[in-house]
Amino acid sequence: MKRVLITGGAGFIGSHVVRLFVNKYPGYHIYNLDTLTYAGNLENLKDIEQKKNYSFLKADINDVEEMDKLFQTHQFDGVIHLAAESHVDRSITDPLAFVKTNVLGTLSLLEAAKKQWQSDFSGKRFYHISTDEVYGTLGETGLFTEATNYDPNSPYSASKASSDHFVRAYGETYGLPYVISNCSNNYGPNQFPEKLIPLFINNITHKQALPVYGDGNYTRDWLYVIDHAVAIDLIFQQGKNRETYNIGGFNEWKNIDLVKLLCQKMDEKLGRAAGESEQLITFVKDRPGHDLRYAIDASKIYRELGWKPSVTFEEGLVKTIDWYLEHETWLKNVTSGDYQKYYQKQYK
Ligand code: NAD
Ligand code: DAU
Repeated sequence: MKRVLITGGAGFIGSHVVRLFVNKYPGYHIYNLDTLTYAGNLENLKDIEQKKNYSFLKADINDVEEMDKLFQTHQFDGVIHLAAESHVDRSITDPLAFVKTNVLGTLSLLEAAKKQWQSDFSGKRFYHISTDEVYGTLGETGLFTEATNYDPNSPYSASKASSDHFVRAYGETYGLPYVISNCSNNYGPNQFPEKLIPLFINNITHKQALPVYGDGNYTRDWLYVIDHAVAIDLIFQQGKNRETYNIGGFNEWKNIDLVKLLCQKMDEKLGRAAGESEQLITFVKDRPGHDLRYAIDASKIYRELGWKPSVTFEEGLVKTIDWYLEHETWLKNVTSGDYQKYYQKQYK
C-alpha cells in the first residue's frame, strides 16, 4: 500500500485533494497532516473521516522533530504539500507568521523527507503546491509561463517563492525527487470567507457592504477548486521530476466585473430585485502592493498531461453560491469568534 502524506488537508484546497485521493485510491493510505489554524476545519472532511485508508495527524509542520518522527513512523512514499498561511492581507499585517510556516515549515518537511528517503529515492516524490503570485504582476497583456522570472510583491508571495526555491534546491543539492505547480486563484466550496468570493457571498447574504479594494480594476484568473484537485492528482501521478506546471483557468476577470456577476447571480438565488445587491458595493482603501493582474498560460499541463478545466466560470460560480447557501451552519461556525476580530481590524 502506498502511503501518501497530504499537508494542509483540512483547509480549502487540501480538503478537496484529500477527498479525491481517499475515494479514488483505495490502495493508498492517505495521511492528512494539519495543525488546524483558523483556516483548517475537519468539518470539511466529515464524509470521508471513517474511511479505512484515511488518517488525520494533528501536527505543526514547523515542529522539526515531530516531522522527522512522523516520517519514520509512517514511512511516507509521497508528499503533497499544501499547508501554508494563504491570505495576502494577513501577510501584510503579520509577515513573520508567513516566513515561519511557508518557508521554515516547508524546510522541516524537506529535511524529514531527505533523511527518510536519501538511501533510495526511487518511487518517492515531494510535490510542492505553489501559487502564480510568485511571478509578481502582469501589465494589461501577457501570461505567466513556467519560464517567467520570479518577482513576488507581497510577504505571502515572497514566502511562497522562497519555499519554491528551497524545494528546487533540495532537488539540485540532494537529489530529492520533486515537482512543483503554480496555480491561479481558486474558488469553490469550503473556502474560508476571508477570500474575495466567499467573503462577498456571505456579505451579500447578510446585506453587508462589499469592500472592493481600490478601483476594482484588478484582474485574477479563476479556477474551480475541484479542477485544481484533478490537476494535482495528474501531476502527482504523471508529472516529470524537477518540473514546474502552471495551472489556470484561462478565465480572467476584473474584480469589479466578477463582483457584479456575483451580485446578479445572488439576487436571482435569493429572489431579490435585479440590481439590489450591487448597491452594497463600496470602494475601500487599496491593498498595499496590490498586484494588478495575474493570468496563467496553462498550455504545458494541457499539452503534456491532457488536463483542462471541467466547468465554465458561470457554472462553477453557481455551484459555489449554492454550496454556501446550503451550508449556513458551516459559514456561521467559521465566522464567529476570531473572524469578527479579524473583520473589524481589516475593514473598519
Ligand atoms: P487554506 O488557508 O484554506 O488552508 C491551509 C491549511 O494549512 C489549513 O488547513 C491550515 O490549518 C493548515 N496549516 C497552516 N499552517 C500549518 C502548519 N504550521 N502546520 C500544519 N498545517 C498548517 O489554504 P488554501 O487556499 O487551501 O491553499 C492551500 C495551498 O495552495 C497553499 O500552499 C497556497 O499557497 C496554495 N495555493 C492557493 C491558492 C488559492 O487560490 N487558494 C491558489 C494557488 C495556490
Ligand atoms: O493567485 C493565487 C492566490 O490567490 C493564492 O496563492 C492565494 O492563497 C489566494 O488567497 C489568492 O490571492 P488573492 O490575493 O488574489 O485573493 P483574494 O481573494 O484575497 O483577492 C482577490 C482579489 O480581490 C484581489 O485583487 C484583492 C481583491 N479583494 C479581496 C478582498 C478579500 C477585494 O477587492 N476586497 C476584499 O475584501
